[in-house]
Amino acid sequence: MRNFSKDEIGLRNVIETDLPIFFQHQLDPQASFQAAFISRDPADRKAFDAHYAKILGDETVVMRTIVLQNQVVGHLAKFVMFDKPEITYWIDKAFWNRGIASQALALFLNQYQSRPIFAHAAADNLASIHVLEKCGFVTIGRETSFAKARNQEIEEVLMKLD
Ligand SMILES: CC(C)(COP(=O)(O)OP(=O)(O)OC[C@H]1O[C@@H](n2cnc3c(N)ncnc32)[C@H](O)[C@@H]1OP(=O)(O)O)[C@@H](O)C(=O)NCCC(=O)NCCS
Repeated sequence: MRNFSKDEIGLRNVIETDLPIFFQHQLDPQASFQAAFISRDPADRKAFDAHYAKILGDETVVMRTIVLQNQVVGHLAKFVMFDKPEITYWIDKAFWNRGIASQALALFLNQYQSRPIFAHAAADNLASIHVLEKCGFVTIGRETSFAKARNQEIEEVLMKLD
């Protein structure tokens, strides 16, 4: 299958009807396992709604819906963790490994130019680490943290873009 071109991928503000789609995306067990550091039970819709109500009303959060030819295929967000700007993203598993996260992150970093910006990824989330590296992030450290999706402590890498 071919990679999508950057002309086919766009970012836009999140709208209400995107939320049930994001909910479906994060229900996938393989995706949750890969992301590892999730903040809540993915199947808990009330917790999901409360979380999104909070972050969409938080002016330190910059969140975008990722669209592929107008179809919602994921989301991306800059948020603040321990006083540092951090990036996160999630793509519908049906569209993995076709260049969407890499193109969407590059587009976002072009629009949001404040630096430095940081990212964490489970050390075995090679797809995410690869996406970050392709966008210029470098590994600056490793930590061990509790990963709720795996119910155990795992190694994660800390990455930075200057
Ligand atoms: C991580 C994630 C966003 C990647 O999205 P994506 O659209 O598939 O990413 P891309 O296609 O742009 O790039 C993935 C790259 O990793 C590579 N890759 C995928 N699996 C890999 C693996 N196991 N080992 C090494 N490289 C791998 C792909 O080949 C691709 O590289 P290429 O473009 O050079 O061929 C997606 O898997 C996802 O949403 N996962 C669940 C949520 C998550 O982990 N979010 C990140 C939290 S830090």
